[in-house]
Amino acid sequence: MKLIVAIIQPEKLPDVKKALFDAEVHKMTVSNVIGCGQQKGYKETYRGAISEVNLLKKVRLEIAVNEDFVKPTVDAVIKGARTGNIGDGKIFILDLPGCIRIRTGEHGSAAIG
Ligand SMILES: Nc1ncnc2c1ncn2[C@@H]1O[C@H](COP(=O)(O)OP(=O)(O)OP(=O)(O)O)[C@@H](O)[C@H]1O
Ligand SMILES: [Mg+2]
Repeated sequence: MKLIVAIIQPEKLPDVKKALFDAEVHKMTVSNVIGCGQQKGYKETYRGAISEVNLLKKVRLEIAVNEDFVKPTVDAVIKGARTGNIGDGKIFILDLPGCIRIRTGEHGSAAIG
């Protein structure tokens, strides 16, 4: 099992949501977050003095999947979020040792799928 954490541009959320739906990924957690990447939150054209990072509004998706859904999920996020511009986002893939569906007590893959 993997936990896929994707940080995307907020305005790309509808496209990512649609691409995930088309890939039959229907479970997700979505949060509003702030963050910055290698531009430290500034536009490439910014030429002023930088003494601290600039935190920009982003959307964070968390999607727990079984192994066979890792690639379809990653591909769908890229399809929905990619423009080719800086700040398109990043995807982190984490090993996920456990998952429990509280209602039934199911564990592991059965609880995710
Ligand atoms: N190494 C990191 N650790 C934690 N969060 C990160 C990291 N890199 C990026 N992020 C998060 O992802 C968001 C989007 O990152 P972003 O797409 O700007 O990455 P980047 O590495 O700067 O690539 P690009 O040059 O394409 O902009 C950031 O605002 C931040 O919230
Ligand atoms: Mg960046």
